[in-house]
Amino acid sequence: MVFLFLPLVFVAQEDAFFATGAFKPNPRHPYVDLSGRRFRVGSIGGSKVIYARCGVGMVNAAAATQQMLDVFRMIGIVHFGIAGNANSSMSIGDVIIPKQFAQTGLWDWVKFKATIPANDVTELDFGSYDVPNGGDNELGSIGYSTEFFYSKSGRPNSPERTLWFQTSQNWLEVSSSLEGMALEQCVNASLCLPEKPKVVVGLNGATANIFVDNAAYREFLYTTFHVSSLDMESAAIVMTCLSNGFKVIVIRALSDLAGAQDGDNTIRLFGPLAASNVAKAVVQFVKTLRGFHFQLSI
Ligand SMILES: *[C@@H]1O[C@H](CO)[C@@H](O)[C@H](O)[C@H]1NC(C)=O
Ligand SMILES: *[C@@H]1O[C@H](CO)[C@@H](O)[C@H](O)[C@H]1NC(C)=O
Repeated sequence: MVFLFLPLVFVAQEDAFFATGAFKPNPRHPYVDLSGRRFRVGSIGGSKVIYARCGVGMVNAAAATQQMLDVFRMIGIVHFGIAGNANSSMSIGDVIIPKQFAQTGLWDWVKFKATIPANDVTELDFGSYDVPNGGDNELGSIGYSTEFFYSKSGRPNSPERTLWFQTSQNWLEVSSSLEGMALEQCVNASLCLPEKPKVVVGLNGATANIFVDNAAYREFLYTTFHVSSLDMESAAIVMTCLSNGFKVIVIRALSDLAGAQDGDNTIRLFGPLAASNVAKAVVQFVKTLRGFHFQLSI
């Protein structure tokens, strides 16, 4: 049985993953290098895993995923990393395991005063964000378009138009056993979060090639798409896995408020804590999954 992880490129996140001590490298074949990425071969709690860093953004995420699925014998992908928090009822340090992701970066940016294409999902109108009050703005508006989803099970050359990509239902059920697990609350002796972080399963996430650090846009995404996490890779990985018929789950810890904070973005302050919480959750998930597949096979 083989699983895989693809975290972001920040070295701190990788350090937190290896610091759990759960990943045991294969002593004879510890890694394979392909197209500039290192795919580390090993195990966690007796399950074979391959671990790689995909890099930032949707192109890296999709390319690394496709390569992984083509080259190795995988059953699915466990993707993890940190994310911006778009939901004011969630807190920094929380671990989110969404049930679905929208690709919110496929845009029709139309001419000033033009209407957006009829089959776009929604509209972002710059005029409504003028200060002090809404009015005309030459940036016009953006229509949110849907992805072209090609899949093994679909008709050739007939992509389905899709906004949402669902993570695997039975892996999501397995992950619900992580709710209530202990997570870290303090970066160090003097810097702690006000509340104990928690694992939350089943909300929505958004992905685009955009690092969001803007309160107005965060609010737009939350009220329009009802998304709780914002990142730059997840939708690409979920879509690529589903296209190829593999299982997939995404585990992300919230490191910042995506622009809703006073002052600087807290990713530098709380990024390491988020990285360590997500690493713990991933290890716990892989261990739980082993039990689940064992039960299925007997
Ligand atoms: C705790 O971490 C913060 C943020 O990295 C740092 O500014 C502060 O000096 C640290 N405090 C101690 C006691 O290590
Ligand atoms: C925001 O987070 C809270 C707490 O986890 C959750 O109950 C709520 O459903 C979330 N909002 C949306 C729109 O998903």
